[in-house]
Amino acid sequence: MSKLIAPSVLAADFANLQRDVEMINRSDADWFHIDIMDGVFVPNISFGMPVLRDIVKHATKTIDCHLMIVDPDRYVKTFADLGCDILTVHYEACTHLHRTLQLIKSHGMKAGVALNPHTSVHLLTDTIQDIDMVCLMSVNPGFGGQSFIENTYDKITQLKKIIDFKGCDTLIEIDGGVTDKNAKQLVEAGADVLVAGSYVFKSSDQVATIAGLKSMVNP
Ligand code: DX5
Ligand code: ZN
Repeated sequence: MSKLIAPSVLAADFANLQRDVEMINRSDADWFHIDIMDGVFVPNISFGMPVLRDIVKHATKTIDCHLMIVDPDRYVKTFADLGCDILTVHYEACTHLHRTLQLIKSHGMKAGVALNPHTSVHLLTDTIQDIDMVCLMSVNPGFGGQSFIENTYDKITQLKKIIDFKGCDTLIEIDGGVTDKNAKQLVEAGADVLVAGSYVFKSSDQVATIAGLKSMVNP
């Protein structure tokens, strides 16, 4: 399977959101990565349902929604109704993770689980067969533009071993601090999806930056 690029809309210009959504539509990007923050699970608030609704109205690609919120079960139906294709919840925010995964799937979405940098991949050994994607946070969640945590490579290697041992086809997504400096090494370690926010949106030619990343990880 080819390696996927998911630009993070968190780094877009919210006053020109339709322009930035259309840029992603016509680029080589595969998914839209949408970061929802509640100011409780993470020390920041991003945007909520009305903004997501308008993004979905214009987006022509898969909507990969990353919930950084406490007790995400409360909003699973809402995000399904808004048109999310993949819904990722945080391991640290779920008391009954298996139940949450079932709830997400019962609403027709793929189920993702995100792990904070301090959370061991081994905690997913007993649920990996029910997880469509694991999102390894390579920064502490809450903000774009932070530097990549190097220990992520080891986590990818260990997670890949668990996935292979269990014979699953769970995808590994890397979220935070992804640039042209680490993209190749990340996919070589076993990553399938790379999220990139500031690296894409701070560049002068965003379509070309996405194309560069995409070809770098799909030689
Ligand atoms: C951080 C978010 C990330 C963020 C990535 O909490 O989950 O998706 O937007 O941004 P960059 O690529 O700038 O680290
Ligand atoms: Zn994210």
